[in-house]
Amino acid sequence: MLKLFILLFVSVCGVYGYFTLPGKCPENVQLQEEFRPADFFNKWYQAYHYSSDGQNQNNCSVIELQTRPTGIYLNQSRVDRGLFHRYSIAKVGIPPSIEDGARLDVTFSFDDAPRRLMNRRYPFHVLATNYNYYATVYTCNYSPLIDKHFIYVWILSRNEVLNDVSKELAIRSLSRIGVDPKKLVKDDWSRCSPKYYEDRQAEPLTFRTPVLVRY
Ligand SMILES: *[C@@H]1O[C@H](CO)[C@@H](O)[C@H](O)[C@H]1NC(C)=O
Ligand SMILES: *[C@@H]1O[C@H](CO)[C@@H](O)[C@H](O)[C@H]1NC(C)=O
Repeated sequence: MLKLFILLFVSVCGVYGYFTLPGKCPENVQLQEEFRPADFFNKWYQAYHYSSDGQNQNNCSVIELQTRPTGIYLNQSRVDRGLFHRYSIAKVGIPPSIEDGARLDVTFSFDDAPRRLMNRRYPFHVLATNYNYYATVYTCNYSPLIDKHFIYVWILSRNEVLNDVSKELAIRSLSRIGVDPKKLVKDDWSRCSPKYYEDRQAEPLTFRTPVLVRY
């Protein structure tokens, strides 16, 4: 019992360290109007990112939307500590109405997890994009228990380097979620060749699940 308590305590503390921004997620955020999912397909490079907990674990990340017989999927890959390729696959939910088109969500499935943590769904909202050069996407996860939230922002580019004009357009939308563009971290694509060739599926490190402790 004590062991269980300690385990719970440690994991809860560990998880809650991720939630640092006070209050709920930004509400009534204006997203990309008349979003066209079909034009959003194929590869996007993470040119800049912002993780509100200050962790930089999603380096050299590529995002790719793909169609499969069972639906639309997102493949988010990264280079782990400069050593290995890692990727995570999620099913993409596309809202049926055009007005809500940019309000995408992604669901990751973990077959080995306890039942209520098996399917984890997160927002994946497109703030702005011109489809050919840049896209600004964010997720926000709220922890009711401590009344704090976590935000991850992707500034995506069709090329490894985002040109200055596109960068300006991409970061303009950040004010809608209260993120200071100065906090963006640039991804250095010249250092993205992992030391070892190993491509394996892993947990995404861009979303945070609040643990719901039940008494
Ligand atoms: C996901 O993308 C990465 C990088 O582009 C690639 O190496 C990996 O094989 C892809 N995984 C799947 C299942 O498509
Ligand atoms: C990601 O890159 C940053 C800055 O280059 C580095 O400090 C950090 O350790 C890297 N993290 C991982 C998990 O590779």
